[in-house]
Amino acid sequence: MEKKNLDWANIGFGYIETDKRYVSNYKDGAWDAGVLTEDSMVTISECAGVLQYAQTIFEGMKAYTTEDGRIVTFRPDLNAARMEDSAKRLEMPVFPQERFVDAVVQTVAANKAYVPPFGSGATLYLRPYMFGSNAVIGVKPACEYQFRVFATPVGPYFKGGVKPLTICVSDFDRAAPNGTGHIKAGLNYAMSLHAIVSAHKNGFDENMYLDAATKTKVEETGGANFLFITKDNKVVTPKSDSILPSITRRSLMYVAKEYLGLEVEEREVSLEEVKDFAECGLCGTAAVISPVGKIVDHGKEICLSSGMGDMGPVTKKLFDTLTGIQMGKIEAPKGWLVEI
Ligand code: PLP
Ligand code: COI
Repeated sequence: MEKKNLDWANIGFGYIETDKRYVSNYKDGAWDAGVLTEDSMVTISECAGVLQYAQTIFEGMKAYTTEDGRIVTFRPDLNAARMEDSAKRLEMPVFPQERFVDAVVQTVAANKAYVPPFGSGATLYLRPYMFGSNAVIGVKPACEYQFRVFATPVGPYFKGGVKPLTICVSDFDRAAPNGTGHIKAGLNYAMSLHAIVSAHKNGFDENMYLDAATKTKVEETGGANFLFITKDNKVVTPKSDSILPSITRRSLMYVAKEYLGLEVEEREVSLEEVKDFAECGLCGTAAVISPVGKIVDHGKEICLSSGMGDMGPVTKKLFDTLTGIQMGKIEAPKGWLVEI
C-alpha cells in the first residue's frame, strides 16, 4: 500500500485530516453498529450537552510501524478501560471495551497510508472520544451520545525533540481532591489552558501542578505524568488520586523493573524533595518521555543534575526500551502490541 507523500521527519504535533474515521451513535439506551466515514464534520444541536456543560471524554494512543514493517497499537485495552472509567464519572454510557479496541483497529486499518514509516520519528496518533449530542438545557446528562475515533500523523509533542524542558510550578490547580483529575475529560484541559498560556508567556515549556489541598505535593503536568530518578537510580513516580493514571507511566514502571532491573516506587512526592533527584521526565502517549532539566518554583531554580544538554542516562534507557518495544525492536510483554 502506497504511503501518503508527507514530510514525516518534520511534522509537528498538529491535526492533519486523514481519510476515514469511526462513528457510532447512542440513542434510546443502545449503541448502533458503528461505521467508518469520510465525513470529518460533526453536526449536533446548538444546545448539545457537550457544548453547554462540557460533557466530553477522550483517549490518546498511537499506532507504530515496527522495524519489520508491521503496524501495531500499544495496549489499547488499557485505553478502553480508562475510557470506561471516564464515562462512568461523567454519567455517560460506556462504549464496550472490545468495541473500543475494534473501532481503533478499524480506524488504523482504514488509514494505513498515514502510518508514518519506521524510523521517521513520527507516529499515527489516535483520538477516541465521546460527547453528549442531544439538547440539554437543565444541568443533567445527555441521553444521546456520539463515539468517534480519528487518526492524525504526529511528530514530537515538544518542539526540539529530546532537549530538556524548563517547567514552572503553577499557582493554578489542575484538579481538586475528589474531582475529575483521574479521568480523561475535556473539562480538565479547558481548566489548564490559562495556566499553559501563562507559562508559555513566561518562557516555560510546561506547568508542574501541585496537589490543590496542601500545595506541597507533586501531581503532574497538563498532559503527562512525572517520573523522577534518584541519585541511586531508583525510579519514583507520584501517587495521587487526582492525576491521570498514565498508561505510559504504568508501562515504564514495568519496563524499569522487569527489563532494566531498577527499583521502582509509586508514592507521594513532595516538592521539597525534588531538588534531590538526579533526573526528571514527563511521560505520556504524546510526550513519550520528555526530559526536564530545570523546574522553577516562584523564581527559585531547581536544577536536575542531568542538566540542560541531554536526556539523563536512566531516562534515556527507559526511553530506548519503551520505544524499542513499541517499534518491535525489543520483545514486548505478552498482549502489549495489537497488530493491525
Ligand atoms: N496526564 C495527563 C493529564 C494526560 O493528558 C496524559 C495523556 O494522555 C497523561 C498523563 C499520560 O497518559 P498516557 O500515558 O496514558 O497517555
Ligand atoms: C496524550 O498524551 O495522548 C494526551 O492526550 C495528552 C495531550 C496533552 C495531547
